[in-house]
Amino acid sequence: MSSPVDVIVVGAGNRGDTYSSYASLHPERMRVVGVADPRKFARVKLQEKHQIPHGNVFDDWRSIAERDKFADAVFICTPDRLHKDPAVALARKGYHVLLEKPMAATEKDCTEIVEACIESGVMLIVCHVLRYDPVIHKIKTLLDGGAVGDVIHIQHLEPVGFYHFAHSYVRGNWRNLEESSFSLMAKSCHDLDLIHHWAGGRRCIKVSSFGSLSHFRKENKPVGAASRCLDCPVEANCPYSARKIYLDAVKQGCVGWPVSVICSNSLPDIESVTEALRTGPYGRCVYECDNDVCTNQVVNMEFEGGLTAAFSMVAFTEKLCQRKTTIYGSRGELHYNGEEITVFDFLTQTSTKHTAELRAPGSFAMKGHGGADYHLVHTFISAVASKDPSLICSGPRETLASHRLVFEAERSRLESRVVFCASDEKD
Ligand SMILES: NC(=O)c1ccc[n+]([C@@H]2O[C@H](COP(=O)([O-])OP(=O)(O)OC[C@H]3O[C@@H](n4cnc5c(N)ncnc54)[C@H](O)[C@@H]3O)[C@@H](O)[C@H]2O)c1
Repeated sequence: MSSPVDVIVVGAGNRGDTYSSYASLHPERMRVVGVADPRKFARVKLQEKHQIPHGNVFDDWRSIAERDKFADAVFICTPDRLHKDPAVALARKGYHVLLEKPMAATEKDCTEIVEACIESGVMLIVCHVLRYDPVIHKIKTLLDGGAVGDVIHIQHLEPVGFYHFAHSYVRGNWRNLEESSFSLMAKSCHDLDLIHHWAGGRRCIKVSSFGSLSHFRKENKPVGAASRCLDCPVEANCPYSARKIYLDAVKQGCVGWPVSVICSNSLPDIESVTEALRTGPYGRCVYECDNDVCTNQVVNMEFEGGLTAAFSMVAFTEKLCQRKTTIYGSRGELHYNGEEITVFDFLTQTSTKHTAELRAPGSFAMKGHGGADYHLVHTFISAVASKDPSLICSGPRETLASHRLVFEAERSRLESRVVFCASDEKD
């Protein structure tokens, strides 16, 4: 690689900061040359980390769009409802785009982003990080190699994790449809995208879905509970207590996620976490929040050729996002328990275990999503550097197709009917 790829980070929060770490690992491959974020603490943190010149530090993405192009690519890591405008404007400016999922809050906006990128001739990678997970890649390689024969049925579970759900989807940024997205989109667009990927290019023709918001409702508030956990006389008996999730964690020296997220203007310590719990959203009783997104949802799908798939997303689990998958084929069964892959062959009646190689040592330093965050950025930077969009496996068209599937599933849930999926002719 001759010179590093220059990148501007739009949204210097949790994800923007994580992805920008690639530049610290591989300064010869990527440089962060600009940042935009209305939060001073976040943008100054990134500015200092990457020694970004003052003139390239902004409090809003629009300032980047107003300037002449001064980098190769942008990382768009703003909140869900702030993806479409910067993605379209900056693609039209000629920047290659790394865009956080979900692409946008409506199908129309997703389509607009894809059209802007295609018409401007820029690359788009959507952060379906799991596509870049070496284990997921291994499953796809096994399927394509015929390990289970013809794929007949896919069963896939996303266990969100009880305190993860309380943090993100009851108290946090993804709790409320009007402010972000429905939970199937916010949490499980990854999963429907994987099912789509494993279905191997077959189009989903029918989808049905059921789900609701269970438990985290006002009527389930325990008798005598207070509005904030720090004042609550019955907190000791509550698994969702903010004191347990954040304050006990910081007392034990854990300052990573989710504690790192709750102090928006300072580093987390006992004082700042206590203050955040006293005054901020993360100290609220989980039974008294303005949350409205589903805690549990199932989606059934039928693909061309009769392949069926069943997906479940559930909040109330011990494991955090340790997905479980079984893929049933005409000649065997593939099982992934979140740790290893096992293939049972019907002919020989033997089981074989498979592991995936971690393809780059840097993944240990950017270990989010099992190292997949690293592989995603690595792929995007390689694609931009070599001008080779074929390296990207979550590009515009197939990501749009899997996002449409999520919108269609949600439509089925809301309208209590089977939805016949639109063909891709709209593309
Ligand atoms: N790929 C994944 O698995 C994954 C995981 C978590 C989150 N996400 C997605 O990533 C996105 C960011 O999530 P996060 O956890 O980093 O959130 P965050 O709140 O930590 O960061 C978002 C940042 O955007 C900034 N911002 C708001 N308005 C802006 C503007 N006009 N210009 C520039 N910056 C602006 C905010 O100040 C904030 O710092 C969301 O869409 C989220 O759904 C994806």
